[in-house]
Amino acid sequence: MDKREFIKLAGLAGVAALSNPSGLLAATPVSGITGKTGGAKAPFELPPLPYAADALEPNIDKLTMEIHHDKHHGAYVKNLNEAVNGTTFASLTLEQILNKVTEKDKAIRNNGGGHYNHSLFWPLLSAEKTAPSDKLKSAINSAFGSWDTFQQKFNDAAKGVFGSGWAWLILTPEKKLAVTSTPNQDNPLMHQLVKERGIPVMGLDVWEHAYYLKHQNRRPEYIAAFWNVVNWNEVQKRYDMALK
Ligand SMILES: [Fe+2]
Repeated sequence: MDKREFIKLAGLAGVAALSNPSGLLAATPVSGITGKTGGAKAPFELPPLPYAADALEPNIDKLTMEIHHDKHHGAYVKNLNEAVNGTTFASLTLEQILNKVTEKDKAIRNNGGGHYNHSLFWPLLSAEKTAPSDKLKSAINSAFGSWDTFQQKFNDAAKGVFGSGWAWLILTPEKKLAVTSTPNQDNPLMHQLVKERGIPVMGLDVWEHAYYLKHQNRRPEYIAAFWNVVNWNEVQKRYDMALK
């Protein structure tokens, strides 16, 4: 797969309506992708949470969700808009920005990743009980040997992040499911920066800001709580989009 094909694939599976001026993220979690690189261009906007801030209680508490979404994600959006203003990045979609960003572009790397990762993360959670489809279970079993092995690998990746970062289930350019992790706000779409590239199918934020108020230093407890609120319908949608 060459770089252009990867950009196209990444865009197809990117987060819909990242600038989201009409506030439709909850209603159109992935279907807003227009093809090519998809997504919107700066100025980006903070998408609303697709549920009430207390919807994930007791697994993730209301105050954490409010601060995490309004303050942390809000700051990434504000800082990203400031960082791209007047640069060549201003004419690119967020997926293109992530693909192009290098170590030199520190503010765009951190805040572009922060905006993308959190926009992806909110719809991956749900108060409604969902279950992985047989199709997804089969793909997971085929990739990892068993569902338990997949969960163990994902948990290990999440626990193994030193400091702040993310654990990921990705679809690699070879269309294989894989588990990986990234530091800080990096993600597997950052073509120039990460060793394991791929399209994020599922991600878990393991920054302390995601869990400290309720779970304090007990990251494994937070990871266990995460599995209770995964929106498997969203995971399935992202997987299907990534496969196209
Ligand atoms: Fe976060």
